[in-house]
Amino acid sequence: MSKKSPELRSKDWFGGDPKTSFIHRSWMKIEGIPDHEFNGKPVVGICNTWSELTPCNAHFRELAEMVKRGVYEAGGFPVEFPVMSLGEPIMRPTTMLFRNLVSMDVEESIRANPMDGVVLLVGCDKTTPSTMMGAISCDLPTIVVSGGPMLNGKFRGQDIGSGTDVWRFSEDLRAGKMTSEEFSAAEACMSRSAGHCMTMGTASTMACMVEALGMTLSGGAAIPAADSRRKALAQIAGNRIVEMIREDLRPSQILTKQAFENAIMINAAVGGSTNLVVHLLALAGRAGIDITLDDFDRIGSKLPLLVNLMPSGKYLMEDFYYAGGLPVVIQELKHLLHMDVITVNGRTHADNTAGTPCYNRDVIAPFDAPIQKEVGIAVVRGNLAVDGAIIKPSAATPALLQHRGRAVVFEDIEDLHARIDDPDLDVDESCVLVLKGAGPKGYPGMAEVGNMPMPQKLVEAGVRDMVRISDGRMSGTAYGTVVLHTSPESAIGGTLALVQNGDMIELDVAGRRLHLEVSDEELARRRAAWTPPAPHDTRGYVKMYVDHVQQAHLGVDLDFLQGKSGAIVTREAH
Ligand code: FES
Repeated sequence: MSKKSPELRSKDWFGGDPKTSFIHRSWMKIEGIPDHEFNGKPVVGICNTWSELTPCNAHFRELAEMVKRGVYEAGGFPVEFPVMSLGEPIMRPTTMLFRNLVSMDVEESIRANPMDGVVLLVGCDKTTPSTMMGAISCDLPTIVVSGGPMLNGKFRGQDIGSGTDVWRFSEDLRAGKMTSEEFSAAEACMSRSAGHCMTMGTASTMACMVEALGMTLSGGAAIPAADSRRKALAQIAGNRIVEMIREDLRPSQILTKQAFENAIMINAAVGGSTNLVVHLLALAGRAGIDITLDDFDRIGSKLPLLVNLMPSGKYLMEDFYYAGGLPVVIQELKHLLHMDVITVNGRTHADNTAGTPCYNRDVIAPFDAPIQKEVGIAVVRGNLAVDGAIIKPSAATPALLQHRGRAVVFEDIEDLHARIDDPDLDVDESCVLVLKGAGPKGYPGMAEVGNMPMPQKLVEAGVRDMVRISDGRMSGTAYGTVVLHTSPESAIGGTLALVQNGDMIELDVAGRRLHLEVSDEELARRRAAWTPPAPHDTRGYVKMYVDHVQQAHLGVDLDFLQGKSGAIVTREAH
C-alpha cells in the first residue's frame, strides 16, 4: 500500500481559518490565479538567483519557466521568488561576505511563505551553497537545479577556460608575451554563451557537489547552459519536486554523513575547487552532520584525479558532459563511495549510475589509470596554522610541495598591490609570499586573493609559481602552490599575524606540516606587542558578520546560523 501524502503546509495559508485564508487567497488573486489552484495543490517555491548583475545566472528566467512547466504538469502550483544574487566577477569586496546573508534571505523567505517544497536555481559560485544553507535550515522538500556551464571558450582556434586562462593571459601580458589588444580580444572569446565558468572552478565544483550529495537529478551537473537538455532537466525537476512533496522526501533524509563523505571523495576525483571545503563544512553545520576539516584529508587526499579539466587538466565542462559527466566518475569510484545513499529522485547512486558508459577516456580516466595518482585537498598544520590550512596539490608545482623559504610579508591587500611589482622588492623565486588580512574577519569575507600575483621582475625572468600563504581563499579556476584558509586568521591574532620579513617558513605537504621557524619565546614577545587591526565597519550587516563569523576550519558560517529552525511558523500577521 502506498504511503499517504502528508498534509500540505500551504493549506494553513489557503484552506485554514476563513478570514486569514480569504486574505491570502484574495491578494494572490491579484495575479489572476483561479480558485482551483488553491485547492490542495502542492505549492512549489522557485528560488531564483537571476540577476543581470550575476551574468552566469542571467538566463534563469527562462529556466524558471521550464521548472514551472514541470510543476504544473505534475499537478502542483509554482510560485517564483527572488533572493539576493551573488555575481562572483562583479561584487565588492567579495561575494563570500554575502553568502551567509543570502542563506538568511532564503531561509526566511521559505519559512515565512506558503511553500510545500522548493526548487533552488543556482549557478555562479556562491549562489549554490548560500541557497542550500538556507533551504537545509528549513528542511522542506528541496531540489537543486544548476544553470549549467558556458560552452567552451574559443580563442585563436584553441579552447580557453574561464578564470584559468585569465590568470595565464594576465601573466603573459605582464611578461610582454601578449599585447593589450590580444588580451582584450580574448574577453569575448572566453564568455561566448550563457552559463557559469566552464572550468572545474567553484561553480562547476558546486554543481558536482550537489549531484554527489544527491540533491539534484543524476547527470545534471555538466549539461551546458546552452544545451536544450538543460531545459528538459529543469522541467523534470519541476515534475519531481511535486512528487517529493507527496513523498515528504526532505534534505534531512538525503544529507547524511555518507552523502557528505561522497561529496569529499568525488571532489578529489574531479579536481574540484578548494572552496568546496568552506561550503561543505557550512552545509554540514546546517544539516547537523559531524564533518571536520580533517575528514577532507582523511578520505579525500589519497584519491586519484580522474577528470581532466582545467585548472588541473586540459578540458572543459562541455567535454566532461559529452564524455558522460559525473555518473561515470561515480561508477569509477563505486568501490569507495556510499552507493546506497538516497538522492532526490528517490533512487540511490547505484541505481542512477549503473551501466553509464564513458565516451572519452582522455576526459574521464578509469580509476586504475588515473591522470594523477593522489590528489584531493591536503590539510597542513603547525605553529603557523594551529587549526589547519589547506592546499590543492594537483594545482601546485610538485617540486614546491616540500619547500623552505624566506618570508616576504604583505600586511594586507593594499600593501600587496602597492609593493608586489616594486623593482626594489627584496624577493627571489625561493621566497615564500605571505599575505595577512585576507580571512573571514580581516578582509572581511575571506576573498579569493590567496593566489597572489608573482612579483613583476620574477615573471619577466620566467618564474610562474612560488609558495604563497594566506588566510584567504583562491578562485576555483586558479592554480599554484598556494596555502589557503590559514586558521586562525591573522585578524584575530593567529600566528600568521606575527610573521615578519626574513622569517624562514617550511612547507612539507607530504608531512602535512606548515612551520614558522621562530622560537616560542620570540612568538610570545611578538604576540604581546601585537594590536588587532581596526574594525572595517561599525554598523550594518558587515558588523554583524565580523562579530559572528566563524573561522575557515569551521566553514565560515555565522555562529548563530548553525543547525536548523524547521519550517513551522504558528503566528499570523492578521
Ligand atoms: Fe560566475 Fe565563475 S564567475 S561562475
